[in-house]
Amino acid sequence: MSTEYKVGDLIYDADIYDGLNTFLSDLPFYKKWLPTNKSAKILELCCGSGRLTIPLAKECNICGIDNSSSMLERAKIKAEKEGLEIEFIEADIRTLDIPNKYDLIFIPFNSIHHLYTNQDLFDTLNVVKKHLKKDGLFLLDCYNPNIHYIIEAEKGLNNIAEYTTGDGREVLIKQTMHYENATQINRIEWHYFINGKLHSTQNLDMRMYFPQELDEYLKRFEFKIIHKFGSFEEEIFNDKSDKQIFVCK
Ligand SMILES: C[S@@+](CC[C@H](N)C(=O)[O-])C[C@H]1O[C@@H](n2cnc3c(N)ncnc32)[C@H](O)[C@@H]1O
Repeated sequence: MSTEYKVGDLIYDADIYDGLNTFLSDLPFYKKWLPTNKSAKILELCCGSGRLTIPLAKECNICGIDNSSSMLERAKIKAEKEGLEIEFIEADIRTLDIPNKYDLIFIPFNSIHHLYTNQDLFDTLNVVKKHLKKDGLFLLDCYNPNIHYIIEAEKGLNNIAEYTTGDGREVLIKQTMHYENATQINRIEWHYFINGKLHSTQNLDMRMYFPQELDEYLKRFEFKIIHKFGSFEEEIFNDKSDKQIFVCK
């Protein structure tokens, strides 16, 4: 069993990513939790190509961090087009060290699944603590691991998306997965067909965080969980929830 976990370059190629991720159903939630004070400072960890950063920047002072240059370049182009001044920093969220403190820090769209070991998560929680103002808010969303879904998805090759990128490529993605019981890492592979031909197979390894362990880790790092929601409509987290969405202090 290989212990190398990774995400293939094509997954976070900005054109390929933006063509797939056009939804904004999480935006009202993140908007709602912005501080009312307009001078408040906001930090988005794993901002990617700015799917949320750009619309949020119209209402607040936000800085975005990501370790993919392709995604950040796209985010900067979008900001410029909109006439928005946003600070984007290329950095790893596990080791980020900047001389600012923020009123709100968030890690959206399942990004913590890229933190494969407990140490990766703990380092990130330390980074959040270090950069969060006293009484600041920390928001986080990720999946609620669904064993039934994994069992079904492991059975074969499943079509998961078909779309056209902004630069005109027809993309079809087929998925296989194998969940590792020992590491809690879901070994996902996305087989990309571009313009009708198999382009490549890309890893999308995702560490699953089970509800009780994640609650415990947040508490261990002295985050007070104010709300735990199961959806962006703020339904209380329950047995049927697809998501774990935290609002912490
Ligand atoms: C699922 S995307 C989310 C992007 C964006 N926030 C959105 O909602 O569309 C996850 C992002 O996390 C970034 N990422 C993954 N691991 C990272 C790390 N250790 N440090 C910084 N960025 C990371 C990836 O480059 C990618 O852009």
